[in-house]
Amino acid sequence: MKKVAIIYGGMSSEHDVSMVSGQNVIENIDKTKYEIYPIIITKDGKWIDKREKEIKDVFKLLKEMDVVFPVLHGLYGEDGTIQGMLEMAKVKYVGCKVLSSSVSMDKVYTKIIFEKAKIPQAKYIYLRNENTYIDENFEEMYLENDKIISLVEEKLSFPVFVKPSNSGSSIGISKAKDGAELIKAIADASIYDKKIIIEQAIVGKEVECAVLGNEASSVGQILPAEEFYSFNAKYENAESQVIIPADLSEEKIEEIRKLALKAFNAVDGSGISRVDFFVEEGTEKVYINEINTMPGFTEISMYPKLWEKAGISYSDLISKLIELGLENN
Ligand SMILES: Nc1ncnc2c1ncn2[C@@H]1O[C@H](COP(=O)(O)OP(=O)(O)O)[C@@H](O)[C@H]1O
Ligand SMILES: [Mg+2]
Repeated sequence: MKKVAIIYGGMSSEHDVSMVSGQNVIENIDKTKYEIYPIIITKDGKWIDKREKEIKDVFKLLKEMDVVFPVLHGLYGEDGTIQGMLEMAKVKYVGCKVLSSSVSMDKVYTKIIFEKAKIPQAKYIYLRNENTYIDENFEEMYLENDKIISLVEEKLSFPVFVKPSNSGSSIGISKAKDGAELIKAIADASIYDKKIIIEQAIVGKEVECAVLGNEASSVGQILPAEEFYSFNAKYENAESQVIIPADLSEEKIEEIRKLALKAFNAVDGSGISRVDFFVEEGTEKVYINEINTMPGFTEISMYPKLWEKAGISYSDLISKLIELGLENN
C-alpha cells in the first residue's frame, strides 16, 4: 500500500475551510489502496498528528511517504511554500508545483500572466501600501486619496472590487460604489496584503471550471445569496447555490473550458485547479477572474461536484489526484 500524508488546517485565514476539506478527504479516500497519515497544521504553525501529538521531525516523516496531499488553502499552503518544502524533502505531492502555486495565489502576478496569454480579464489598477500606484510599466507614483479616486474614475468606473493580492475565500475583498467606499475598501484590503488590486466590477454570471490532469470539466455556475460571493455567501449562507451545467449555451461552455485549460497551462499548472470566470450580461463576453490551485475540496464543493457530474465519484477523484501526484514528480 502507498503511504499518503494528508496535510490540512494551515496557517492561513482559510484554516477552517481546509479543516473541513481535509477531513472529507480522510473520510473518503480509498483505504484499500492507501495507508493514510493525517497531519494537521495548527493556526500557529504546529504540525500535529490525529492524536494531537506534536510531530517532532516533520522532514523525516515526509521523506517516509510515497506521496503527500497538501489539502491547504491560502498562504503557507496554496502559495508554493509547502510545495517548496516538499521539493526539498524530495517527496512526491499532489497538485501544482512551486511556481504555479505562487503565481496563482498572487492576484497581481496571475493578472500579468493572463495578460501575456491574452485571456480577457477585468481592467484593474495595482497599488502598494495603500497609496503607491504601480503603472503598466511598473513605474511607481505616490498618490493622495483624492488622486486615487480620480485615477479609478479615469481608468475604470464605479462600482469596483478591491482585493488584497494574496488572500482567498473573499477575505479582505469589498465592492466600492464611490470614492469614500473605495478608500475604506483599500484600508480593509491592506490588513491582509500590502499589494492591492482595484478591479472593474463585471455584471453577469459567475462560473467555474475544474481541471484534473490535462482535462477540463463541464462548467458550473454560482448563484450567490448575497450581493457578491463573499465569505459569508460562500460558507455561511445556505441559500447560495451552484448549478451544473451553467445556464449558458454549449458554445459558451466550450469556450470557457478551452480558456480554463489555457489559463492552467499559462501558469504552468499540474494536477488540479479550478478556474473561475464571469460571463458579462448583454455582451456574453467571458472574463477570467482567477485560478485556484487548491480549490475547496469538501464533498459539496464545486470542484468535486463538477467531476461527480462527469461520473467520477469523490473517492475516485482523490485516487486520481494521488496517482497524478505519484506520476508527476
Ligand atoms: N471584477 C469583479 N466583478 C464582479 N464580481 C467580482 C469581481 N471580482 C470579484 N468579484 C466577486 O467577489 C468574489 C471574490 O473574489 P475573488 O477574486 O474570487 O477572490 P477569492 O480569491 O477570495 O475567491 C467573487 O467570487 C465574485 O463574487
Ligand atoms: Mg474566488
